[in-house]
Amino acid sequence: MQKARVVADREFIIGALDRRVFGAFVEHLGRCVYGGIYEPDHPTADAQGFRGDVLALTRELGVSIVRYPGGNFVSGYDWRDGVGPKEDRPVRLDLAWFSTETNQFGTNEFVDWCRKADVEPMFAVNLGTAGPDEARNFVEYCNHPGGTFHSDLRRSHGYEQPHDIRFWCLGNEMDGPWQIGAKTAREYGRIAQEAAKVMRWTSEDLTLAACGSSKREMETYGAWEYEVLDTCFEEVDFISLHQYFENGEDDVGYFMTSVDKLDSFITEVVSIADAVAAKRRSPKRIMLSLDEWNVWYKARTPDDLAKPGWPQAPKLLEEIYNFEDALVVGGALITLMNHADRVKAACMAQLVNVIGPIMTQTGGPAWRQTIFHPFAQAANLARGNVLRTVVDAGTYSAGKYDAAPLLLCSAVHDPDSGAVTVFALNRHASEEMALEVDLRSFGGLTLKDASVLHHADLKATNTADRPDEVSPVSHPACRLDGTLAATLPPLSWNVFTLEPRGS
Ligand code: AHR
Repeated sequence: MQKARVVADREFIIGALDRRVFGAFVEHLGRCVYGGIYEPDHPTADAQGFRGDVLALTRELGVSIVRYPGGNFVSGYDWRDGVGPKEDRPVRLDLAWFSTETNQFGTNEFVDWCRKADVEPMFAVNLGTAGPDEARNFVEYCNHPGGTFHSDLRRSHGYEQPHDIRFWCLGNEMDGPWQIGAKTAREYGRIAQEAAKVMRWTSEDLTLAACGSSKREMETYGAWEYEVLDTCFEEVDFISLHQYFENGEDDVGYFMTSVDKLDSFITEVVSIADAVAAKRRSPKRIMLSLDEWNVWYKARTPDDLAKPGWPQAPKLLEEIYNFEDALVVGGALITLMNHADRVKAACMAQLVNVIGPIMTQTGGPAWRQTIFHPFAQAANLARGNVLRTVVDAGTYSAGKYDAAPLLLCSAVHDPDSGAVTVFALNRHASEEMALEVDLRSFGGLTLKDASVLHHADLKATNTADRPDEVSPVSHPACRLDGTLAATLPPLSWNVFTLEPRGS
């Protein structure tokens, strides 16, 4: 049996956890919008055509903010196509996913959906085929109260009050050759700078994110971040990161180290952003938005990426998640939380059907994929300050990693309620782990809840027929007496919620 000891002290804080790290993503791609959040003929659909079952699962997931409308899609999107009377909206070819876009769902429907789902909308502007002018017109449409062309256009569409959209992404993956209107770092830095300037002049208090690299493996990685930020440092608040995790070798130990790679990615981008600040002797700190992340490697065949004949809402990127994918997602969530000082936004990509924690059948049921569970637990339970834990645990070697820690953990303390939540991932492939978490600085705590996500079959999935095959269960082996002691099964995700005695 492995042993691990953790000390968590209320005084040692990494940072306040920003709720926006529990974001998700809705793109006009495959069945994410059409057949996902919007399906007017579905039995659970409301008067606006929003699927009630998906809305309920989105709320249960605890998502805080949702990025829209893309993704690659946004780089060819004209936002005006998706507003106004539905019968007047043009049908277009979508060159990002080689699909037909009917535009029956657009900006106003998305904002309405967000209000019903109790999430904040995050918009991306098109900096592929469009530029600063379209971006500022879109901001005016969304945020200006009235009395101008675009704000009155919104009002004429039945939205008297501004949408008050605060968080905006300046384009999407502009470093990628697959992107419509891809750019060099210099080209992108300039257009992001000018777009940011006029967007801010149009509406106050915007939070703006510049595009970082599409993944850490991009040839231009590092140089891209530096040059982009060196150009638009003063105008933006965030730099984005995108990362999808893969298990191409079918090696669970190596797959788990995807999370260590994410950890390096975040640390490196923080360093680059701070190097740009240093050059200016600036106290300003650029924050990180991991605005696309997830496991994605199975649904990546050519047939998963595009279907012939320009279909409407085809099945694309419909990754079926298994138990080991849920463990990697849990590890990624721990990594995000442990960078709470600089990662202030993140979006699991995506929300439904397309690499999503929620899966639906058109006309049929909706269910929770395996990855739904660690996300929902973190989003619903992690509140307050992430603590700088001291971890003493064994290591293992896999791929490039000679000494990857066997235990990943994070501890979050809510100063308002006094609650402490501990998330622990045992990455040992075959051995249990005796975990001790020293919580003596907290005084009297009681164990409110403890759960474990474990399955004998790493490839087990949740399906329409067996939607709860992989689900957390009550933890069978844990106790608390100043120290939290638990036995973690090999390859397991564990969550412990503690609250002040007498609360
Ligand atoms: O999330 C799917 C796609 O992955 C997005 O459209 C793009 O930004 C990324 O490459």
